[in-house]
Amino acid sequence: MQIISGTAVAEKVIEECRREIAELTAQGRKPGLAVVLVGDDPASRAYVRSKDKKCRDLGLHSVKLELPATTTQEELLAHVRVLNNDPEIHGILVQSPPPKHIDEAAIVRAIDPAKDVDGFHPVNVAKLALEDPTGFVPCTPLGCQRLLIDAGIETSGAHAVVVGRSMIVGKPMALLLMAKGKGGDATVTVTHSRTRDLAAITRTADIIIAAIGRPHFIKAEHVKEGAVVIDVGINRVDDPTSEKGYKLVGDVAYDEVAPKCRAITPVPGGVGPMTIAMLMANTIKACKQSEQR
Ligand code: GUN
Repeated sequence: MQIISGTAVAEKVIEECRREIAELTAQGRKPGLAVVLVGDDPASRAYVRSKDKKCRDLGLHSVKLELPATTTQEELLAHVRVLNNDPEIHGILVQSPPPKHIDEAAIVRAIDPAKDVDGFHPVNVAKLALEDPTGFVPCTPLGCQRLLIDAGIETSGAHAVVVGRSMIVGKPMALLLMAKGKGGDATVTVTHSRTRDLAAITRTADIIIAAIGRPHFIKAEHVKEGAVVIDVGINRVDDPTSEKGYKLVGDVAYDEVAPKCRAITPVPGGVGPMTIAMLMANTIKACKQSEQR
């Protein structure tokens, strides 16, 4: 059984980013990312902090906007417009989910698609479906695909079962796996919370992408011997023995599933670090493409 280290692969991606940043620096260019957080959800706050920190580590221009939970739709739109017009900013990310009074889809549509490093704008969703390489692919599924490629997992002709249908992970993951080329060419089934007899379907999978957002949802009975399992879940569960009072667990019951697998990603240290690495890569791509317009 192979444990796929997201930490190690993410470090490789970050090294690639460093080389590209050095090339851009030599041309007097510097990629810039703006991360916007509305409200004070502790998990979102932690994500935004680590995105900002990684930017600074790499020497990217980073703007972190932390707005109060009372921020109105209009105020948030105004911030997005300013960032759209800021030539030093190449990537804009509004951390999801925003507070309930915010119309998230309208905010995403307001972001310049050329700066939408999250890949959530309808133009980028369409480009992914059309296999247009100028588009931005959401960072988490892009990171999952990179893990499969780096771990030497053959996706071509494989049956990949995606568990979860979110706009952030499940849907784009399915499109990536069915696209032509490296890390693609798979036969893809998308399952979700309403799927009948889910275990019967996941048991036919060569590759399972668990992205349903429920702790330890995928059990040994869901997995066939020799399958590859990518665990996208980052769930906070109570843990009185830990200092923080909680621990992070995946969507996969790792202890019972891992012994059946050919390869599996751990939580933490699996998909998590990849998401941030791919965000850096997308920001560099946005910077490079901005000069071509
Ligand atoms: N919330 C969870 N994952 C993501 C992500 O990749 N981007 C944004 N903007 N919000 C998220």
